[in-house]
Amino acid sequence: MSFIEIKNLTVKIEDSVILEDINIEVNQGEIVSIVGPNGGGKTTLIKVLLGLLKPTSGIVLIDGKDPYYAIKNHMIGYVPQKSKQELDFPVGALDVVLFGLIGKNLSKKEKLDLALRYIEYVGMKGFENKIFGRLSGGQQQRIMIARALVSDPKILILDEPSTGVDVVAQESFYEFIKRLNQEKKITIIMVSHDIGAVVSFSHKIAGLNKRLHYFGPAKDFLTKENLQKLYSADVSLLIHSDECLTCQHFNPMMLEIRH
Ligand SMILES: Nc1ncnc2c1ncn2[C@@H]1O[C@H](COP(=O)(O)OP(=O)(O)O)[C@@H](O)[C@H]1O
Ligand SMILES: [Mg+2]
Repeated sequence: MSFIEIKNLTVKIEDSVILEDINIEVNQGEIVSIVGPNGGGKTTLIKVLLGLLKPTSGIVLIDGKDPYYAIKNHMIGYVPQKSKQELDFPVGALDVVLFGLIGKNLSKKEKLDLALRYIEYVGMKGFENKIFGRLSGGQQQRIMIARALVSDPKILILDEPSTGVDVVAQESFYEFIKRLNQEKKITIIMVSHDIGAVVSFSHKIAGLNKRLHYFGPAKDFLTKENLQKLYSADVSLLIHSDECLTCQHFNPMMLEIRH
């Protein structure tokens, strides 16, 4: 049995089908990126994995059990889609990371040591006492990742982590994700619009638009047929060598999708 198993998953919200007959298997230690058009059900799929939304039909198992147990046992770290609310909340970076240990049976000192260790791990040492809302987009993202990792989860789920982060910060972010996966053998599930980048470092791609139009090796994803099916649009594949800052580091290919 795979580490994460999604079998014949269908989700309806108020009679409209949001996800239909989704089948996904993820092995431990894999990086799987979910791509697809806006409104295609990516966040909904993540909500099911987080146990926040019940399947209308089908089965979702994490390590053989209902997602509820995975959450309860701190098996999943989650970096949500960026919300404006967090920016306005005057809270220190260290406190944000400590939130990730709520419900953990540890002493105050143990929690503090762990939080400081993970702040250092994400390259934010020295920013502990800064107001979270005043950090740059890339710095906030690192703090949110420290918060997700501090409870030592087996799975890290990120929903559109690069949105609102500048290109140079995005590059080091992808390098960081790769290192994290290699060092901690953590399973990573990530929603991204940055197809050129994710294809180059993910093991598998899930192309989602209500149905799963593609699920397989990342290296076989980038065909015109796959992209047309997924985006139901006129898709042009543009090959760049050095114009695209984000891509040149990972893949000399950039995508332009025209609707
Ligand atoms: N709570 C909800 N009530 C009604 N419709 C919803 C709800 N959540 C999501 N949807 C609908 O489900 C579809 C998929 O949304 P979502 O999973 O957020 O897509 P994505 O993350 O791929 O942009 C959209 O059409 C959205 O309007
Ligand atoms: Mg979404």
